[in-house]
Amino acid sequence: MNLRLVTLGLASLAPPSTSVAAPGPKVVPAPPMPSGATRPLRKWAFRHKAKLKQWLDASPSYLPYPLLNRLGLQVIRVLAAWWRYALRRQRNHPELAQHEAALDREGIAVIRDFLPSDDFAALAAAYAEFGHSGRVTCVRNKDGTGVDWYTGRIDCGYEKSAAERMLSEKIARHPAVLNLAEHVLRRSVKEPPTLSYQRLVVEHGYVDDKDVEGVLHSDRYYPCVKMAFYVNAQEEANGAYVYCRGSHRRSMARLRHEYEYSVRESRFLLGKKSRLDPKLMERGRPRISDEHTRAMDLSPSAIVAPANTLVVSNNIGFHRRGTISPGRERQQIRIIFYYVQRPWYGRLAARLFFRGRDPASDHPDAMGKMA
Ligand SMILES: [Fe+2]
Repeated sequence: MNLRLVTLGLASLAPPSTSVAAPGPKVVPAPPMPSGATRPLRKWAFRHKAKLKQWLDASPSYLPYPLLNRLGLQVIRVLAAWWRYALRRQRNHPELAQHEAALDREGIAVIRDFLPSDDFAALAAAYAEFGHSGRVTCVRNKDGTGVDWYTGRIDCGYEKSAAERMLSEKIARHPAVLNLAEHVLRRSVKEPPTLSYQRLVVEHGYVDDKDVEGVLHSDRYYPCVKMAFYVNAQEEANGAYVYCRGSHRRSMARLRHEYEYSVRESRFLLGKKSRLDPKLMERGRPRISDEHTRAMDLSPSAIVAPANTLVVSNNIGFHRRGTISPGRERQQIRIIFYYVQRPWYGRLAARLFFRGRDPASDHPDAMGKMA
């Protein structure tokens, strides 16, 4: 007889209690094993998904080899990625022509009134309900940045509430979301993206001036897509996303920046901060040099928009998280497509072992931690 049956048996013999039980820790059941878990290989992959992620995900933007980068490693990586992208066929959708043109021209599309008003009202209620559930965690004054981060994965495959299913249906399965991702990536996008709840709050008395995501950067050296759905109105004061329009273009100026930045970043990755020019550091991370900022004509602007706006961003372009003023908050649903952007062997493994879903549930982007 197992221990659980013994425990249940003893509990049934105890007199009924009239007192209210003290609230205990919320028990989140382990995610179910994949249905094919009887197959040893799939079972092994499921258990070791965190380690597999390192091998299956797209390679990092910069590699920690200063000498090789000085010899041109990053330039080779960048040119190879741009070449592969140029060879992929464009994927256009006539009903989204206006937004696809904006993505081609500026690297960003801002779609106001994305959902019908009734749907948005229902979605906002679902967002609030999910925010009060045990699925959302709060890190107060995260890393001493002055910002309280409320984040949680939505629709991550088990214990879905009605609110969660609704958020997923209205956003992750929206045809425009999938089709605009296809347009940016020039890849077929059939699986719904990872969604995450994100609410950033700066309480009175705190200053949002330390988060590294507040430094202008690009996520990748090749086109990649990230989306955010604005649940509340976003203006400069509550940290609207900041993007340099047109910075997604692949150019000689960008290639020169990649070369120069890769040498500094590789030293940074190796912890050799003493060898870095402090004037080229910001909030503890290397920043884009003034010379390359001018050469690439970077001009950051806040993507100010009302609630019920979908922002589609090609994050090869330069961007940062907007600064939140004390007493203000930013509410978003983050829409992440990195599962599509793995190399072919990573996508194949995901399809075989994880039914195409993101095995990297602990990816920082998936948790909505990026700008
Ligand atoms: Fe970013």
